[in-house]
Amino acid sequence: MRPVSRRDALLLGGLGTAATVAGGAGLWWSLVSTQQPGSGAGGAQGTGLRSPPELRSAGGRLQLTLEAARGQVELGGRPARPLCYNGAVPGPTLRLRPGDELSIRLVNSIDQPTNLHVHGLHVSPQANGDNVFVTVQPGAGFDYSYRLPPDHPPGVYWYHPHHHGMVAGQIFAGLFGAIIVEDPEPIPVSADRVLLVSDTTLDSAGNIAAVSQMERMAGREGELLLLNGQSRPLLTARPGERERWRIINACAARFLRLRLDGQRLELIGMDSGRSPAPEAVDELLLAPGNRADLLVTAVDGESTLQALPYDRGGMPGMMGQAPSPVRGAAALATFRVGGESAAVPGAVAVRPAPADLRTAAVAARRQLVLAMGAGSGGMGGGMGGMMQFSINGREFSGSRTDTVVAAGTVEEWTLVNTSPMDHPFHLHVWPMQLIEDNGLAVDSVIMRDVVNVRANGQATVRVAFRDFGGRAVYHCHILDHEDLGMMGVIEVR
Ligand code: C2O
Ligand code: CU
Ligand code: CU
Repeated sequence: MRPVSRRDALLLGGLGTAATVAGGAGLWWSLVSTQQPGSGAGGAQGTGLRSPPELRSAGGRLQLTLEAARGQVELGGRPARPLCYNGAVPGPTLRLRPGDELSIRLVNSIDQPTNLHVHGLHVSPQANGDNVFVTVQPGAGFDYSYRLPPDHPPGVYWYHPHHHGMVAGQIFAGLFGAIIVEDPEPIPVSADRVLLVSDTTLDSAGNIAAVSQMERMAGREGELLLLNGQSRPLLTARPGERERWRIINACAARFLRLRLDGQRLELIGMDSGRSPAPEAVDELLLAPGNRADLLVTAVDGESTLQALPYDRGGMPGMMGQAPSPVRGAAALATFRVGGESAAVPGAVAVRPAPADLRTAAVAARRQLVLAMGAGSGGMGGGMGGMMQFSINGREFSGSRTDTVVAAGTVEEWTLVNTSPMDHPFHLHVWPMQLIEDNGLAVDSVIMRDVVNVRANGQATVRVAFRDFGGRAVYHCHILDHEDLGMMGVIEVR
């Protein structure tokens, strides 16, 4: 195993000011302007965007330590005491290549159990792989090791804790970071930006605010909407420059309906799904957990990256106490384009079309019903009644296996939502191909690891269970719903 280099050690130490940017045919390094925590300037409106430190694999390996601990940093320009990976929010960005081995020593220095999940990576869920049944107690550590297959799809992934019952709270408190799997053929860009969107609420002392049962049932949405831990940072470019924006929705429950009016946007991927050629878009919807891989060609002027209201439904009779999921538009960042025009960037190579499961032989068809109903305490609009969050009528139990799948087969799953709220359905390890969305057949190959199932709606997906066996989970990525029981166990064998 490669020892941690001095440079890595510096980055791991939470220096937080260095970023690496892959551009053009070559590779260049740049320093992002230093913002000292507590200087008062960090994170204020108009402050330059900070990027998480980046750790890059070399010789097929990346080895690092991730320490989860309470830290003292700024969030949105305010002094805060969130949970940090290696002293920062977000944690370091991990840049890998297909075929790499990623080794992470997770050190738990918080006062609750935690663990680690690599969201979207197609890796083994067994043993010390992407195994969410591992518990790392306070004061303990665990050595995770993941081997990416040589044909792993390039794209944007992320990591976060997955200890059942505490997932929403720990992510809301700051525990998340990006994973990038690099393209075999680099796309010529002037900047490769990693943009983690999160939300949280701070109390007057800068601690992460507690949430009510009502907020948990609705899915907590924070008062602060952050981009790389900052409020409305400033990004700059020259006209004609092409940038790559890797946007991650790390919010516990908030949907992001994004616009960047006045600029030219092309989507090249969502989750592990790749578009064969860039597709022009003017709006993007990212459910919690989704990622977008976006090309932005800069147009002279100033634009605002906006999160527009999205109606994800609600709970009848309880909305009086719950946070309204529909809010006004929020500004995530300012994009200022000026100066001399840049040369026209090189063409984006056409990429091979992904395999299409619509023509595959289907070995089994299943229906998964996502439901919210009166729990044991009884709901009836009364206080104190907990609503039950279930899949096929059952709340999560880690000791039960709900779905057994034969290795090497393709299955078709119909995801039915009988509740008045959207539930973004997430399956670990094996990507899903969207076949039908609310009755409409999908006419291209769309691969996702989070598929939003609309309130009282349904979606159909196909999944190829190849490469890996073992036990893993599927769940609603409104992480409070997952913590409240809307999760099931799958075993592939
Ligand atoms: Cu991003 Cu099981 O989660
Ligand atoms: Cu996941
Ligand atoms: Cu849900």
